[in-house]
Amino acid sequence: MTELWEKYLAEELIPADRLQTRIEELGQQISVDYRDKDLLLLCILKGGVLFLTDLMRQLSIPHEIDFMAVSSYGKEVRESTGVVRILKDLDQPIENRHVLIVEDIIDSGHTLNYITRILRARLPASLKICTLLDKAERREVDIPIDYTGFVIPNKFVFGYGLDLDEKFRNLPFIGVVNTDLFVGE
Ligand code: IMP
Ligand code: MG
Repeated sequence: MTELWEKYLAEELIPADRLQTRIEELGQQISVDYRDKDLLLLCILKGGVLFLTDLMRQLSIPHEIDFMAVSSYGKEVRESTGVVRILKDLDQPIENRHVLIVEDIIDSGHTLNYITRILRARLPASLKICTLLDKAERREVDIPIDYTGFVIPNKFVFGYGLDLDEKFRNLPFIGVVNTDLFVGE
């Protein structure tokens, strides 16, 4: 049976085994860097969920997790405007905690720029960013990224947490969307 997602897939950009190998490396690095620190992983919903759950299983140090959900106010759903609304805030204060944001992808940078401004005002002991994917060419605001899984080209991707109209987040790999299907949309 042909899987539903296959018609949307132009190419498999990052296969599942490469994702897992890189996440293992990131987990080891973070475990060293945050040794003896009170680490809170802050996952940005929903795209970061698969990355979070795989990354935390690679950590050898104690840590907690929390979630935040935001939505951007944009006419065009695939373009970030930089105006972000908090749909779900953290459950706890972050003052004096070492917060590591776990994000699926950084594109223009507007979303994280906004989130980090809000969080910094809450006076965490430290605030760093770990993103699985970095679409570096598309950056409009400068965001210091502390941990990057992969720098990817300017293509719309889906799978492994990232959605295509809210679907296919479950795919174990990162795929490039077949844009031919969206011409004239
Ligand atoms: P930014 O504010 O432009 O950096 O937007 C980041 C957000 O846009 C990400 O958290 C994703 O939700 C979404 N996004 C950007 N590029 C892609 C993509 O190629 N596939 C799926 N979602 C994307
Ligand atoms: Mg996201």
